[in-house]
Amino acid sequence: MMKERRTISFTVLFSLLTIAIAYQEAGNHDDEEEYSFILQKTPEKYLQLSSNGSFKIAVFADLHYGENAWTDWGPIQDVNSDRVMSTILDKETPDFVVYLGDVITANNLPTANASLYWEKAISPTRARGIPWATIFGNHDDASFEWPIEWFSATGIPEYQCPSPTNGDEHCGFRGTHRLELINNEIERNTLSYSIKGPDHLWPSVSNYVLQVSSPENPKQPIAYLYFLDSGGGSYPEVISSAQATWFKHKSEKINPDLRVPEIIFWHIPSKAYKKVAPKFGIHKPCVGSINKEKVAAQQAEMGIMKILGNRSSVKAVFTGHNHGLDWCCPYKKLWLCFARHTGYGGYGNWPRGARIIEITQQPFSIKSWIRMEDGHKHSEVVLSS
Ligand SMILES: *[C@@H]1O[C@H](CO)[C@@H](O)[C@H](O)[C@H]1NC(C)=O
Ligand SMILES: *[C@@H]1O[C@H](CO)[C@@H](O)[C@H](O)[C@H]1NC(C)=O
Ligand SMILES: *[C@@H]1O[C@H](CO)[C@@H](O)[C@H](O)[C@H]1NC(C)=O
Repeated sequence: MMKERRTISFTVLFSLLTIAIAYQEAGNHDDEEEYSFILQKTPEKYLQLSSNGSFKIAVFADLHYGENAWTDWGPIQDVNSDRVMSTILDKETPDFVVYLGDVITANNLPTANASLYWEKAISPTRARGIPWATIFGNHDDASFEWPIEWFSATGIPEYQCPSPTNGDEHCGFRGTHRLELINNEIERNTLSYSIKGPDHLWPSVSNYVLQVSSPENPKQPIAYLYFLDSGGGSYPEVISSAQATWFKHKSEKINPDLRVPEIIFWHIPSKAYKKVAPKFGIHKPCVGSINKEKVAAQQAEMGIMKILGNRSSVKAVFTGHNHGLDWCCPYKKLWLCFARHTGYGGYGNWPRGARIIEITQQPFSIKSWIRMEDGHKHSEVVLSS
């Protein structure tokens, strides 16, 4: 029943000394004065990057922590996901990690506080002192779906609470919303570069930009990393018109002459991914190793792709969601890329791995490849040079 449920839930489903500078909007989105410029908190926030002029990001996609905690196989999946991340972090020693959504499977978490599972998922990165940022996927704040089997003769199982010492409160069925998850992460973690986006984009939450700077001059941007919330879970799977407008204004403001390359992260592929998806295998110009399912795209296109496609500074979009796809294909002047299923949680048994992105300053390039749990590397592609 477990595997079946997981299939069903799917279908409804950055050298350098870098300072991450978050331009966060307060309230309205047009006026320069409305931007509060946050130089991230304390000096500990300054990233001390390798002096060889490169910045490496590991992308952890679709970890799906916390599935079926009441069974034997559920907790083992999480242990396996810990191992995948640890192996890849030790092999690649990235400067930064992006958690690309579906960090947890909330619809499968009979707990009052899903942040406990969220913490588990970020712990391999935190343990190595590597900073990270997270975005939401469609499973992170989904509401608990009571398994019908719990109402048969076998009854409701004695499930394991993530923190049984803290009493009953940690065993509940209340669900944990996006804002709670992000607040808990930010409050407890000085290494977190996640930002709660502007209020007017609610209910979408993970909308923000981080600056990657030159090693010589922290004020000189080398690249911008944009994060967008593609919805799902507590609301439709979409990047709203308001988010598209937010991106347009923000990018035109901080990068008016299109000089600084921009790369974009969100969870659910947009409909444009369907247009470029390779048929039967993977052929040039696409690069990748698995093409095992149809693109499960967002429900609607509300304008973000038009804006991205019209900005020559946008080099690539990275999404997760489809565990059986790991390709990059060109679309207009940019690349649309899938990450690689990293977690043992979630549907599919394709070998686990992580997409790696490397930005090099001189000469400038953005390269990407996939690093597998067994250590081998494949599907290297130059996304910009
Ligand atoms: C830069 O140095 C880091 C570690 O110090 C290493 O992981 C990375 O591969 C190097 N990059 C290049 C392009 O030499
Ligand atoms: C939920 O867990 C997080 C992290 O473990 C903690 O910081 C927070 O206080 C908890 N919230 C509640 C309501 O228990
Ligand atoms: C595309 O960009 C050009 C130049 O920046 C601008 O004039 C044009 O209005 C844009 N088109 C759309 C559809 O945004």
